[in-house]
Amino acid sequence: MITVVVKAKTMVAENVCHLVLEPMDGSTLPRWEPGAHIQLQLTPDINRSYSLCGALNASHYEIAVLRDPMSRGGSSFVHDKLNLNSELQISEPKNLFPLNSQINPCVFFAAGIGITPIIPMIERCMNEGRSTVLYYCARTPSEAAFLHQLQVTMPTDALHVHFTQEHEGKRLDIPTCFKHITHESHVYVCGPSRFIDDVMANGKRIGLPEPQLHTEYFAAMHHETSADHEFEVQLVSSGAIYTVSQDESILSTLEDNDIFIPVSCEEGICGTCVIGLVEGEADHRDVYLSDEEKASMKHITPCCSRARSKRLVLDI
Ligand code: FES
Repeated sequence: MITVVVKAKTMVAENVCHLVLEPMDGSTLPRWEPGAHIQLQLTPDINRSYSLCGALNASHYEIAVLRDPMSRGGSSFVHDKLNLNSELQISEPKNLFPLNSQINPCVFFAAGIGITPIIPMIERCMNEGRSTVLYYCARTPSEAAFLHQLQVTMPTDALHVHFTQEHEGKRLDIPTCFKHITHESHVYVCGPSRFIDDVMANGKRIGLPEPQLHTEYFAAMHHETSADHEFEVQLVSSGAIYTVSQDESILSTLEDNDIFIPVSCEEGICGTCVIGLVEGEADHRDVYLSDEEKASMKHITPCCSRARSKRLVLDI
């Protein structure tokens, strides 16, 4: 972990605060690439991931955090408790949403706070002279973080903003956007699950291959839990078997038995908790593993996924 200090804290949109983090000891922070995120250890129990959204060659890190009305402690801690000169521990940057290195045109879709990982991607694309288009959705202009910065850096015909309040609540017409997307384009999307699902579905509909569709989820998908049932997990290392009840997760069952796995989001988004699956059929409920990885049944996210088979054998 790296100890950093909050060097600046400003509001950059309604309910969105922007933090500048500098290393406490003046050392050089690890380099990062567009799409990367860091984890903030906010309290001993609260660890949250946020995308880096500042300039790529800066000597500090920048993040922007939306105050989530349903906050389980993360965003409200950042908004209410982190102040100028607050110290905190962060992880090194990790990138689960990388920009492809070819020169293909890039089309970005961002909704709300989903703009944060897109900002450095656009900076990189503009610097490389790549064909770049952004569709940016928010409810109102005052809720659109970094809008002015984008208006200054992007050509007007490359930036398409859609404010639902100005369209009588109507969402962006994604199928129409895809009429202008060529088959060699790479599409990047970040925002609420429904927005991501719509963009991905339209990308597939026009025949874009999966490697050209890139996404990062900020929120977990909703799953029907009424049919959840009890199952067993067995550990490879000790052979111990534990019962996961209908209303408990694998993670909490393991923790109840003093077996601790590193976690962050606890919603199936970040991938921090991924462990090996040796036997059994998982009921994958995360948005982290790809469809292929899910089908291979070699890994599982114990924070949210469950079992279809009676028992899962876990590689721990
Ligand atoms: S802790 Fe984030 S996916 Fe499990």
